[in-house]
Amino acid sequence: SKKLTIAIAGLGTVAGGLVQALQENAQWITQRLGREISIKYILVRNPDKYGSVKLPVETKLTTNPDTLIGDPEVDVFVELIGGIEYPRTLITQALNNGKHVVTANKALLAETGTELFDLANSKGLTLGYEASVCGAIPIIQVLRDSLAGNQLLSIAGIMNGTSNYILSEMSNNGLDFASALKQAQELGYAEADPTLDIEGFDTAHKLNLLIRLAWGVHYPYAKLPVAGVSKIESIDIHFAKELGYRIKLLGQARIQDGKLEAEVAPALVRNTMLIASVEGAFNAVHVQGNASGSLFFHGKGAGALPTASAVLSDLVNIARGTNASNMGFVEDNIQKAEILPNEEA
Ligand code: NDP
Ligand code: HSE
Repeated sequence: SKKLTIAIAGLGTVAGGLVQALQENAQWITQRLGREISIKYILVRNPDKYGSVKLPVETKLTTNPDTLIGDPEVDVFVELIGGIEYPRTLITQALNNGKHVVTANKALLAETGTELFDLANSKGLTLGYEASVCGAIPIIQVLRDSLAGNQLLSIAGIMNGTSNYILSEMSNNGLDFASALKQAQELGYAEADPTLDIEGFDTAHKLNLLIRLAWGVHYPYAKLPVAGVSKIESIDIHFAKELGYRIKLLGQARIQDGKLEAEVAPALVRNTMLIASVEGAFNAVHVQGNASGSLFFHGKGAGALPTASAVLSDLVNIARGTNASNMGFVEDNIQKAEILPNEEA
């Protein structure tokens, strides 16, 4: 059958990983799907910068977004630029032009609420965002599909690779905060603005998306209590260690007395707990369902190929024609009303 034609915006860490994985796994993907996934365009600002990137022969670099969004042959628009306003405009245009969208942009999806999902739903299109939460861990699909028949009691996890990398390097290799952050940036884990990572906002974006999937609630992003790792010093980590604990940045949400409680904050975690042994840019999520019981997911939360793996899962679903409900709830049942934040719960 006809190939799935995609256009990618951006050619940084994640897009570079996607281009690599699509080339390395091309034959395998075609064999599984019965159709090829072909990259027709990549949108960049400065094509000269990417002269050394190995691209498929059919792929063209362009600086004009209208080229890809206006091309009727493009089936899927893959947004891997980051930021809010520009990608929001591009995604809106792509959906209005009948294209499915795949994005890794949790900041955009959390801060703009449900508007892009509403638009995708109204057009019968998929807005795939598996890559936006916890890199390679398929947590979006788990909450939307695998656990959809459960009432979920709690979600807790390490959802930011950069912060966990910093805490691990400070604890295990004696690095200071600034050097550990610099390494995380060099390894491609950090956001363009690393404040999002170290002040807890990236974890808050991800938690916001998981809450929506788990409970069908649009928790107002700005009301989530958020603290990050920026004030943690080596001495804190070493005292914690002496007492048998690790410091981890956790995103947590649970149902307590019928109300949703959620927060992002560094926490003392006992050494004996699984989550204490999550190191480096790895992430982990613990989920409790009333039928499934306790589940623990662990894997690479950031970086080129692990994140590309999650982008690929959305592309594979689109190529298969899987009609995934974007937010995991029939549209009318997403609650847009404000939910009480912690202190009022
Ligand atoms: P990078 O900064 O590595 O790459 C961004 C790319 O977008 C660059 O190629 C950049 O080009 C390009 N770009 C920026 N602005 C424009 C523009 N106006 N027009 C065209 N191209 C533009 O980011 P990442 O790959 O790390 O992140 C991309 C997205 O994926 C973000 O939303 C991020 O939050 C998310 N993400 C990242 C993960 C990671 O591990 N890095 C993991 C999960 C999600 P230029 O070189 O010109 O700046
Ligand atoms: N900056 C993010 C992190 C990328 O460090 O986890 C993955 O979402």
